[in-house]
Amino acid sequence: MKHLASPDTNNEDGEGLLVRRIKNGTVIDHIDGGEALNVVKILGIVGTTTEALTIATNVPSKNMGMKDIVKISDRELSKEEVDRIALISPRATINIVRNYKVCEKKGVEIPTLIVGSVRCPNPGCITRTNEPIRSRFAVLPDGKGLRCIYCDSVITKDLTSFII
Ligand code: CTP
Ligand code: ZN
Repeated sequence: MKHLASPDTNNEDGEGLLVRRIKNGTVIDHIDGGEALNVVKILGIVGTTTEALTIATNVPSKNMGMKDIVKISDRELSKEEVDRIALISPRATINIVRNYKVCEKKGVEIPTLIVGSVRCPNPGCITRTNEPIRSRFAVLPDGKGLRCIYCDSVITKDLTSFII
């Protein structure tokens, strides 16, 4: 059971460890430095929470300069949740951990459509009236923005401030 006490030692200067390995759950690695809290937000984890989270920000990384890591114990993220992360951090990798082992490793793909999760910036948009219409955004090429398919409003900056 060496993993029980074994810290994460894979940062390149071998300084040893910051964050413990988890037993079961999801590790979101290679998040752009500083973006971890936005990743948590786009996953819908806000306010008072019962999630067991470990967050490391601005950790030195061989390939990325600085990176962030988010570990969510006892939850395996769905494809839909994972792909939303690509809007914030397209290089993120998702590791599914079971009994301390990485069982699945995948990248995130920029989705073509985001349904729900994001509020249209246009107060007159039909998705912001009392109609039971969920927001729908087409993702612009390279994930550089979102276009409301109802009113054509475009979000190119501060996407995270429009997350519901
Ligand atoms: N991890 C964890 N708990 C475990 C197993 C892995 O928190 N029980 C974390 C590791 O610390 C690392 C990520 O999950 O941040 C991926 O683990 P692993 O594939 O072992 O690391 P690397 O080979 O460095 O991954 P990559 O090749 O994707 O950089
Ligand atoms: Zn709209």
